[in-house]
Amino acid sequence: MKPGQFEQHAIPANGMSAQSISTAFDQMSTQDVRWRDGKAFSLAYNAGPDVLAVAEEAYRRFSGANALNTAAFPSLRQMQGEVLEMAGVWLGSTTNSAGYFTSGGTESILMAVKAARDQFRSDSSITHPNIVLPTSAHAAFDKAAAYFSVELRRVAVLPNWRADVAGMAAAVDQNTIMIVGSAPQYPQGVIDDIPELAALAQRRGVNCHVDACMGGVSLAYLGRLGYQIPPWNLQVDGVTSISVDLHKFGYTSKGASVIMYANKRLRSFQGFFTDQWLGGIYASSGMLGTKSGGAIAAAWAVMHFLGDDGYLRLTRSARVATEKLAQHITTHPHLSLLAQPDALLLSFVANEPTRLNVYAVADEMWKRGWYIDRQEPPQSLHCTVNAVHETVIDDMLADLDSCVSIALDTGMSGDVGAYGTLS
Ligand SMILES: Cc1ncc(COP(=O)(O)O)c(C=O)c1O
Repeated sequence: MKPGQFEQHAIPANGMSAQSISTAFDQMSTQDVRWRDGKAFSLAYNAGPDVLAVAEEAYRRFSGANALNTAAFPSLRQMQGEVLEMAGVWLGSTTNSAGYFTSGGTESILMAVKAARDQFRSDSSITHPNIVLPTSAHAAFDKAAAYFSVELRRVAVLPNWRADVAGMAAAVDQNTIMIVGSAPQYPQGVIDDIPELAALAQRRGVNCHVDACMGGVSLAYLGRLGYQIPPWNLQVDGVTSISVDLHKFGYTSKGASVIMYANKRLRSFQGFFTDQWLGGIYASSGMLGTKSGGAIAAAWAVMHFLGDDGYLRLTRSARVATEKLAQHITTHPHLSLLAQPDALLLSFVANEPTRLNVYAVADEMWKRGWYIDRQEPPQSLHCTVNAVHETVIDDMLADLDSCVSIALDTGMSGDVGAYGTLS
């Protein structure tokens, strides 16, 4: 190499064969978490090879189609519309409701915040808008606040990890545009008191967003399976928007979420429009411009392939695994749940953190291929349980016990890691 040059991956002088590309993928992914085998308790969801095959085939067929302009792709317009209507049933949509398909929970949340900001810009004299939300609400709200110049007022949760409605009421002022609740919240997996939060929002004349990115599918089915699920969706008076991720418990390909508004006017503040350039009229519904049809087609395909009974079956499987995990930790001599799970996610701590470092347990689990999220405060491990776990949960629990013993015996410490990375 000449001085001043640095090593970098170069485009091959001659194209590679499809076979050697596939081999390269195999080599590169040897260290990836084996989520198809149920090894991931975070980041990935799996309802089995048949569902995956349907999603991948749909994605392949529409990956090059562009939902930026559905005039050119009426198929995508139809699929988006039908996905929204199907998801709308889970979300308690009314005839006034209207939504958009987005690329994920983060985009759905960003858009709910932008719509609320622009609605209040249009209807009030608020110049320094704020949002009142519990400390448990997802980090995407911090991103939305940073992107759209809105102040966030995070209020500490109650000892049971649920939103402190009275504390939030005290944080609302004349510049508040939105109150947030989660169904369920990510860190401890519990559902906020949505009726109380929505009533507060109504009394103060502000919007109420329910983050059901995690629960929008599973809560609809848990209720039907006989679990006591408190009201959480657009059927609750005062809820003005709600988000649900189809790429989580909808078991479709990544890049699929829905943001649903209580009315069309609020939705109208989500879109972006300009004609101030040389390319004519430009309009887009969300953060993206060009938007692959792949995720839309995969969502449509998986929802039709699974059907209502498929989601009921998958929710039951995931709940069986969640309850096994919860029960195991409840009776564990060294671990404790932070809360009994309201849906399909939970987190747990060490009974004696000075003797047992839970991040060391996660490190040991990772050596055995299990990927578990780490979080704080408090220092805890987090599991998102889905249908694929029903068949592997006993193995996972056996490994968890061994890993706790190793971490106790060696007194190892571990690192909190990160929920996402900048790379
Ligand atoms: C409650 C909740 N809201 C929002 C999000 C953000 O979703 P995404 O990662 O799809 O952007 C997540 C992700 O885990 C979540 O758990």
